[in-house]
Amino acid sequence: MNTQELIKIEDDYFINTFTRQPIVLDHGEGVKVWDIDGNEYLDMFAGIAVNCLGHNHPKLVKAIQDQAEKLIHISSIYYNEPALIYAKRLVDKTGFDRIFYANSGAEANEGAIKLAVKYTGKSEVISTVESFHGRTIMTLAATGHEHYHEPFKCILPKGFINVPYNDLEAIKEAVTENTAAIIVEPIQGEGGVNVPDIEYLKGIEKICKENDIVFIVDEVQTGFGRCGTLFAHELFDVKPDIMTMAKGIGGGVPMGGILATEKVASAFVPGDHGTTFGGGPLVAAAANAVLDAFEEENILDNVNEV
Ligand SMILES: Cc1ncc(COP(=O)(O)O)c(C=O)c1O
Repeated sequence: MNTQELIKIEDDYFINTFTRQPIVLDHGEGVKVWDIDGNEYLDMFAGIAVNCLGHNHPKLVKAIQDQAEKLIHISSIYYNEPALIYAKRLVDKTGFDRIFYANSGAEANEGAIKLAVKYTGKSEVISTVESFHGRTIMTLAATGHEHYHEPFKCILPKGFINVPYNDLEAIKEAVTENTAAIIVEPIQGEGGVNVPDIEYLKGIEKICKENDIVFIVDEVQTGFGRCGTLFAHELFDVKPDIMTMAKGIGGGVPMGGILATEKVASAFVPGDHGTTFGGGPLVAAAANAVLDAFEEENILDNVNEV
């Protein structure tokens, strides 16, 4: 089938949610991709901040191939080695205490908010205008874009308060005795690459400490080298209670995760949260390969140079 015939399949069969460029991509190598007609492109999107090693990275491809030959999926009632090894590696690297594996950014944020609510027993979450936290009903409520809310207003959960970004006074005013969490991107991505003042995150950390509020950083877009450090909150010298991740974590395979301090993580007991696919052996093997590449190929030095 040619490009036009293939694109017509989406027009005829897909639920209409995306606007795409009129090319059908076939393969990639590093920063380049080729369409089915052999045209070469420089991929400036990197899968929307996903392909942190570029396309077709040999370590990532090999890890996925090797793992696929051994075990692709098992039930979450069994242990799998790649997920166990990765948990230890990432926890040791970041200084958090515990991990939960999810499949996407929205799901990671959904789990993080549940954890904060369970930990505090409170029902309000403060997030920022122009933020993006996902498209599930709860993360949509946290997302600070009115036009995304509009068609679903009737079903959005109560308790989400969007305040202007980079405005500590607005956060202070929004805090009540019911505040469970403040969720913020260290640098806003979808909102237009908004970089806050250097003291903004420190200020949030202080407000959270003083009021026993859970401080959640959403590093779904900023994580895995995007901003020059492994995670962007490191640039602001803060220690959040929870960090959420996705996109770059698996270098292209669908994966997400939550890192949390022992204190907050201990609020969850078996049955409070779960997942069928999260932390499966295939994606965990990919995530290990991404970390290998970061460690062995000085990816962060390259990010900073670029
Ligand atoms: C900061 C941030 N959080 C959450 C999400 C949602 O991630 P996903 O599309 O994997 O659900 C995104 C997606 O763009 C994002 O940029």
